[in-house]
Amino acid sequence: MNRIQDNFLWGGAVSAHQCEGAYCTGGKGLSIADVTTAGSKDCPRRITDGIVKGEYYPNHEGIDFYHRFREDIGLLAEMGFKCFRMSIAWTRIFPRGDEREPNEEGIKFYDQVFTELKRHNIEPIVTLSHFETPYCLVKEYGGWKNRKLISFFERYAETVFNRYKDKVKYWQTFNEINHCKADSKLGMWLAGALEIKEGDDREQICAQAVHNMFVASAKAVICGKRINPEFKIGCMVGYIPYYPATCNPCDVMAVMKREEEDYFFTDVMVKGKYPYYKEQAYKKKGIQIQTEPEDGSLLRQGTVDYIGFSYYMSNVYSDNIEHIKVSAGGIIRTMENPYLKSTKWGWAIDPLGLRISLNRLYDRYGIPLMIVENGFGAYDKFSEDGIIHDDDRIAYLKAHIEAMKQAITEDGVEVLGYTPWGCIDLVSASTGEMEKRYGFIYVDKDNRGKGDLHREKKKSFYWYQKVIKSNGEIL
Ligand code: BG6
Repeated sequence: MNRIQDNFLWGGAVSAHQCEGAYCTGGKGLSIADVTTAGSKDCPRRITDGIVKGEYYPNHEGIDFYHRFREDIGLLAEMGFKCFRMSIAWTRIFPRGDEREPNEEGIKFYDQVFTELKRHNIEPIVTLSHFETPYCLVKEYGGWKNRKLISFFERYAETVFNRYKDKVKYWQTFNEINHCKADSKLGMWLAGALEIKEGDDREQICAQAVHNMFVASAKAVICGKRINPEFKIGCMVGYIPYYPATCNPCDVMAVMKREEEDYFFTDVMVKGKYPYYKEQAYKKKGIQIQTEPEDGSLLRQGTVDYIGFSYYMSNVYSDNIEHIKVSAGGIIRTMENPYLKSTKWGWAIDPLGLRISLNRLYDRYGIPLMIVENGFGAYDKFSEDGIIHDDDRIAYLKAHIEAMKQAITEDGVEVLGYTPWGCIDLVSASTGEMEKRYGFIYVDKDNRGKGDLHREKKKSFYWYQKVIKSNGEIL
């Protein structure tokens, strides 16, 4: 193949909590995002005990997609989007998370969104849980470390699968499930809904939570296929290729071990069982997971159809951990790569890393891949002509699309689609900033929530429109 296939899914991605706003409208309950304050690249976001007066929570308003989705989808259609990756806020469907009956108003909202997408021939790609677990499930059940969440999640998944079975074909279970790691407080919170206290055995808690999420994901896959065998249900991981700091075999070994921490997630969700290295690591650390007899068979039956992954950067790793620092967002440990430039938030810009990632994942798993997030977070400024000339963003995306094309056409990797992150500006997940922008569409709102929320097309809007129209031939 020397061209990208004609049915390639070009589009963009958002999540409910980062764009919808309307955090307590339409019967919606509080989610973990609603009690997470704004931060910045130098100051981590904080988790408050409920909503505290005087604190600023940027997700409460988001970009008000809840009320403006028709206008926004119209703009995406104008760019020629073939697909749109979004998530359903669990708390719109089950406000507390543990109810028996869903909230019809929430169901209706997404029905309208999917109808609007269909009207424009845009295929929805829907994540069930994108860092927006109901807050009540944290307060009353302790988050994903509690096995009860599996049945709550299953009920939620079954409800939306049933209601939207004729409108949505592509699904993903948990967004960046692999961020639920013991060394990241924010990652444990966003991905695992785990509130960590002083003295907690983080590794044990994390291992249990992740196991419960694996079983929940598998059950959702099994249930989804029963409801509509045509569904394509994927997992979603944050993928970062690691390069050894030197050719010293100790660094190579350290990289291998570091990468296992992430491969563990895809190994379980794609291959259907715990990999040998993780079983050994748990044994050595004395970690014991509470399981039920059916778990093994559920994991085997509930494997995913494709791997959705985010790719923003590569990273460097070393045997000498003193060289490694934790990034401001608190999710990723970083080391500088002298061959690469970084964004203002310290994320290394590495298009070739995307081709490497696609090959590594395809080689290891042999199932289709979907790049469901990729993008350039940057401050945007209007020029005198009244337009945002976001040439750096265009350069970033162009180079990454080129790398993706090479993976498809030269290397033979099967890629279903490409949905750059934050196709319309939205609230940053790691910092809560609004001014870390990714969009083709500008939203008038700043880090403190000021602005009238009106939308403007950036230069990249017209650029991406041509990319899609030419199926990636004109970059
Ligand atoms: C991924 C998440 O981690 O990266 C998104 O799935 C997030 O929710 C995106 O927004 C970009 O990260 P950030 O921190 O710049 O918003």
